[in-house]
Amino acid sequence: MFSILVNILANATWTQNGVTIAGGNGSGNATNQLSQPFGLFVDDDQTVVIADYRNHRIMQWKNGDTTNGQVVAGGKGQGNGLHQLKWPIDVLIDKETDSLIICDYGNQRVVRWSRRSGTTQGEILIDNIGYYGLAMDEQRYLYVSDVGKHEVRRYLLGEKNGTIVVGGNGIGGGLNQLKAPTYLFVDRQKNVYVSDTNNHRVMKWNKGAKEGIVVDGGQGAGSALTQLYYPRGTFVDALGTLYVADTSNHRVMRWTQGAKQGTVIVGGNGQGAGANQFNNPMDLSFDQHGNLYVADRSNDRVQRFSIEKDS
Ligand SMILES: *[C@@H]1O[C@H](CO)[C@@H](O)[C@H](O)[C@H]1NC(C)=O
Ligand SMILES: *[C@@H]1O[C@H](CO)[C@@H](O)[C@H](O)[C@H]1NC(C)=O
Ligand SMILES: *[C@@H]1O[C@H](CO)[C@@H](O)[C@H](O)[C@H]1NC(C)=O
Repeated sequence: MFSILVNILANATWTQNGVTIAGGNGSGNATNQLSQPFGLFVDDDQTVVIADYRNHRIMQWKNGDTTNGQVVAGGKGQGNGLHQLKWPIDVLIDKETDSLIICDYGNQRVVRWSRRSGTTQGEILIDNIGYYGLAMDEQRYLYVSDVGKHEVRRYLLGEKNGTIVVGGNGIGGGLNQLKAPTYLFVDRQKNVYVSDTNNHRVMKWNKGAKEGIVVDGGQGAGSALTQLYYPRGTFVDALGTLYVADTSNHRVMRWTQGAKQGTVIVGGNGQGAGANQFNNPMDLSFDQHGNLYVADRSNDRVQRFSIEKDS
């Protein structure tokens, strides 16, 4: 996702016990619940929007909301009407138009919903492929990963076909290939970082490159510090340090530039529902202070970890 440039010291630490800021009341569709949160996005004012996958809706929690969130898109049951979503998997806020851009995975489309109150339906931006992750660069080009075609395309808003910027060379483990790409991040130079989930690695494709660089993992599935196990959400800070939701290892990893191995910054305490545990963390982001937010899918909650040391 395109986000604020966040300054985090390379040796920063976070509280090991997360605080539940959304959901955490069991799986359900009440406004204090989530059912399998996937992608999330944190705005400048610490508002968090969440793709509430199994509830076919997007939830918003404003900083300071205690237990109840607000349904800001969908929530009208599973379906393909313009007022509905089906398994939304990622979301971002487009500040320019004050709207949500949503990957409506089950409907194989990307839709836009205005954030103005009273909005009851969205509009289709692009459709017909197996979209997964979304990101936007500063020029408001939209980047969308296609988990079925093993590529990432870049779209000028309003454009239907887009341009392949990552992959597009079939499924595989080569440096110019991907195997089920999911969440992605685009930096200020328009370099694209993408979780190459089924290759258990994160790839960086410099702008215009014909092949990528393995920046994390790529040593097979596993739990060593050199490995990832179905990685998903990615984030890159101002120093170029990469953070990854290492889903099946139930941990969040940090890779400083050029490092030979990562470090576990939170989680890694087994699969579970404790405050220092995750059960399939899917996506992550940071606010401008460096606090970490993680969509903890199978615990039906979003956790926040406060940064302990920063400039
Ligand atoms: C919902 O979860 C939050 C966070 O864990 C908790 O503070 C709150 O008491 C719960 N509310 C209910 C009704 O269970
Ligand atoms: C919410 O969940 C209840 C209980 O499972 C169900 O009856 C209801 O239809 C759901 N509401 C929506 C909008 O999906
Ligand atoms: C877009 O893609 C469709 C399907 O592949 C193709 O028929 C069409 O010509 C393309 N349009 C442009 C403008 O490239």
